[in-house]
Amino acid sequence: MRILGIESSCDETAFALVEDGRRVLSSAIASQADLHGEYGGVVPEIASRAHVERLVPTLRRSLGDAGVGLDSVDAIAIGHRPGLIGSLLVGVSAAKGLAWSLGVPMVGVDHVHAHLYAGCLERELPAFPAIGLVVSGGHSSIYLAQSAIELERLGSTIDDAVGEAYDKAAMILGLGYPGGPLLDALAQKGDPKIHKLPISRLGRESLDFSFSGLKTSLLYRVRGKPAPGGVFERDHTDLEESELADLAAGFQFAASAAIVLKLERAFEAIAERGLDVQSLLVGGGVSANSLLRSRLLAIGKERSIDVRLPAMEYCVDNAAMIAGLGFHLLQAGRASELSLRAVPTTAC
Ligand code: KG4
Ligand code: ZN
Repeated sequence: MRILGIESSCDETAFALVEDGRRVLSSAIASQADLHGEYGGVVPEIASRAHVERLVPTLRRSLGDAGVGLDSVDAIAIGHRPGLIGSLLVGVSAAKGLAWSLGVPMVGVDHVHAHLYAGCLERELPAFPAIGLVVSGGHSSIYLAQSAIELERLGSTIDDAVGEAYDKAAMILGLGYPGGPLLDALAQKGDPKIHKLPISRLGRESLDFSFSGLKTSLLYRVRGKPAPGGVFERDHTDLEESELADLAAGFQFAASAAIVLKLERAFEAIAERGLDVQSLLVGGGVSANSLLRSRLLAIGKERSIDVRLPAMEYCVDNAAMIAGLGFHLLQAGRASELSLRAVPTTAC
């Protein structure tokens, strides 16, 4: 079964053709990073308009790369939640038009759940139950997965998503946008022991995340204390490159440690339910982070479980993960009606 996946939830317009939920025939992504860079974040109205402009060329590219026409599409999978409502509406409308005109089924896919499927592309499904970790620009959550489509959210961020914190931290350090990859590269030149930044715990049993305190703590280290009126003592231009690298390393260390701490708690909480975790599924833009990847692989080794880190191209928003998960939803009889709605929030 060849499924055409469509992704437009934020600032990437993406189409992919995936066979039987596994074999990726093509994955075309049109990024809008150049449009939003000067604002330091995604501007929703600009994003929706750019999706409209990039939709057809990206669809053509995806079909061209796979060397097939629309006539070989058996079903449409659309990331219809969560995301920016204007951006989602562009993709959902395209999905409905394509499904109706081709006379094929359509399935709505939760974008956050699809991130967890990214490490299952091009491979056999992992063994379940699994722990799912989504770390992206918009979400930071931990799940218990009984299968690819049966997910229970155990915890999520109470303030910033970890990718959002990376982007804001990068701004404080005077790096560009999106800041995650730039901060990651700078951190590798620094010493994480010089600046011990806070690792949020949120009580003894919480599986929720909090990253805003870490971000504020970095802000004060870089700029000093604010005087009345909010004027700071200095900014990043007053610091040497090596000092900025040490601060980046301290931030990256604390962010990764907070994630690992909650994962360890999730392993305990699931074991208390009498379940034996077999795999760790990871997804979202921050799963491209070098330190986090190595810490997660170490957990896998220690616990002898299968860690599914996505290939770099499937860490960020893409449509292959949407088509991949869409296949399993269709197999389970969960096709959507053409009345499918775009929804800004996640299902669970
Ligand atoms: O999953 P994604 O493409 O978008 C959402 O669904 O939110 O994630 C984008 C986020 C951005 O915040 C970006 O800075 C972050 O992923 N990111 C990274 C790295 N690569 C991307 N954060 C830390 N280290 C990286 N290497
Ligand atoms: Zn995403």
